[in-house]
Amino acid sequence: MWRERGNNQLEARVCRVCCRYEFSHSIPRLSYQCGLTDKFPYLDVSSRYFFNIPQTKVESPDFDPDFHNAIQDGFNNVLLLNQLPWLMDILVFLAHYPPPWLLKRFFVNSKMTKFVTVLRLLGDQAKAVIARPPAKEEAANHTVFDQILSSHLPPEEKSLNRLKQDAQMLIVASTLSTSWSITIAAYELLAHPRCLRLLKLELATAFPAGPDSMHDLAILQHLPYLWAIIQESLRIGIAISHRSARISPLNPTTYINPITTATFTIPTGTPMSMSHPLLLRDPLIFPDPKTFRPERWLENDRALEKYQVAFSKGSRGCPAINLAMVEMVLPIAHLFARYGSKECRAEGDVGILELWETGDQDVECVWDGGIAMAEKGSVGVRVRVVRD
Ligand code: HEM
Repeated sequence: MWRERGNNQLEARVCRVCCRYEFSHSIPRLSYQCGLTDKFPYLDVSSRYFFNIPQTKVESPDFDPDFHNAIQDGFNNVLLLNQLPWLMDILVFLAHYPPPWLLKRFFVNSKMTKFVTVLRLLGDQAKAVIARPPAKEEAANHTVFDQILSSHLPPEEKSLNRLKQDAQMLIVASTLSTSWSITIAAYELLAHPRCLRLLKLELATAFPAGPDSMHDLAILQHLPYLWAIIQESLRIGIAISHRSARISPLNPTTYINPITTATFTIPTGTPMSMSHPLLLRDPLIFPDPKTFRPERWLENDRALEKYQVAFSKGSRGCPAINLAMVEMVLPIAHLFARYGSKECRAEGDVGILELWETGDQDVECVWDGGIAMAEKGSVGVRVRVVRD
């Protein structure tokens, strides 16, 4: 899924985000506050990379967070939507069919309008791709739709409706999971100066010419401490908290309890599920599980790696792990190579980031809305960007 083309685009976009933080220094005030989670405009990346639809959220003064926040609102209501699934059908109908003037009457808030606009763009693009000859994989206009249409999938999986659903899934799946995980990483680094110091040292050693020379993604991706920070942020943040149900359609499943050796046979067709927090917070596997300690991932020859289930596992696990890892590695590296915190500064830093009116209650998952949900009333992780 992850190739050179998207790679360059993503790097350019991420660098723009970091530059945006620097531009804000020209504002004639010493500091400003901003929320973090909706400031990583991942829609720009997925929309362009998967569907060849350019988005420019990163250029807008406040990163145009409406689309992100509309999805967040959707997940806030997930318990209701689970009980009344037809509400979702109505929403999808409204998103695709009524004319724009009528739409404005239904969706008076700008967040939903932005969300619906993106869905319509995806639908239009699906129609356009169906109507034209498939683009070659290396072509600039190649999309996920081209890939599905030229695959061996049965015709019903290539219908316009199906393409729209797949696109919606990709866009939604790629937004909150990544922005939440990276927000956790930023929060934990600012809350743990020791970890931030080790990260900054690792970056400075790998790129002695400074952050502007951090072009080699292969080097960045293999920096052990940076990797461990991402793993620990994924673990502690538990982006996808819901029970991922799986059904074995053809054969019964045998489970042997590794401790008691008791054997259980689960009949064919039975939904089985387990929520990730049970494993990611298991004190037998991750001692002191609520503590952010990236080093645990590097110990004992990276023995914990097999317990990393933040992306789930198997054939229905996240298909975009590599993309997600890059989407986390790049901003964390670029941001913290340029910024320090009050307790941890390096020569050449352009400023510091301070957690602002933010605490553990804004990052701890206290309820399962499909994705990890912090306490009701939390307005998310916010930082103060301070200039010397
Ligand atoms: C830190 C970031 C991410 C995390 C933690 C994450 C986690 C997950 C998990 C746990 C699942 C399985 C859900 C289930 O079983 O119900 C999943 C599925 C999925 N993810 Fe991700 N994901 C991330 C980023 C992304 C990105 C960037 C994309 C971009 C396309 C993506 C696309 C998908 C899709 C399409 C599925 C559904 C796969 C299927 O139904 O077979 N994810 N993800």
